[in-house]
Amino acid sequence: MERLQKVIANSGFTSRRKAEELILQGKVKVNGSVIRELGTKVIASDIIDVEGNILERNEKKVYYLLNKPRGVISAVSDDKKRPTVVSFIDTNLRIYPIGRLDYDTTGLILLTNDGNLANFLMHPKNEVEKMYVAKIEGNLTPSEFYCLKKGIFIEGRKVVPSYLKIRKTTEENQIIEIGIVEGRNHIVKKIFEELKHPVSKLKRESYAFLTLGNLKSGEYRELTVKEVKRLYSLK
Ligand code: URA
Repeated sequence: MERLQKVIANSGFTSRRKAEELILQGKVKVNGSVIRELGTKVIASDIIDVEGNILERNEKKVYYLLNKPRGVISAVSDDKKRPTVVSFIDTNLRIYPIGRLDYDTTGLILLTNDGNLANFLMHPKNEVEKMYVAKIEGNLTPSEFYCLKKGIFIEGRKVVPSYLKIRKTTEENQIIEIGIVEGRNHIVKKIFEELKHPVSKLKRESYAFLTLGNLKSGEYRELTVKEVKRLYSLK
């Protein structure tokens, strides 16, 4: 027997906290009856309905690594009918991206139907390192570089890059490698915005120990069993 909110979160429907809210709001039914108690335990054969969606509980778990092109949204569907990261993957399973990359950001994004792993990897306390390459306008002065290395405040919260290196400098631009362990949206753009060197191009090159390898833009591959185990072992 398992707690209802845990089963909902593990199915990938939403986070544990959101699942608790949905239960308290009376939006979850077990075998047709609304359940509002957070401690409720369920068994494998119970039919769980969350806001009208029946949870698929014993679905095969799948894991993909996509090299996201520019102009693609990191979501399952889009009102404006723009391509989504999910539309690149050939599967009938209900997968979704782990975290997000902006519409104009390219590079590595993971997709899965394993809510357990997704929730773990996205939780800020787990500090999974993501490496980005940013093309910025202008050049960082030595003191700006130093300030950034020590950490800067974005919207009142300090962010300290886990890695920082200048890859290339031209008169107009610089290519910067930056490692980030937190998960705030648009964080890399906000950092360079703060330093008055806006980002004109952004690519994610790695996520924890995973890299793009030979994948071209729009290509994807399944993670190996070993890689999935290794992601779980980050726990
Ligand atoms: N930081 C950003 O600014 N954009 C992304 O897509 C990812 C990290």
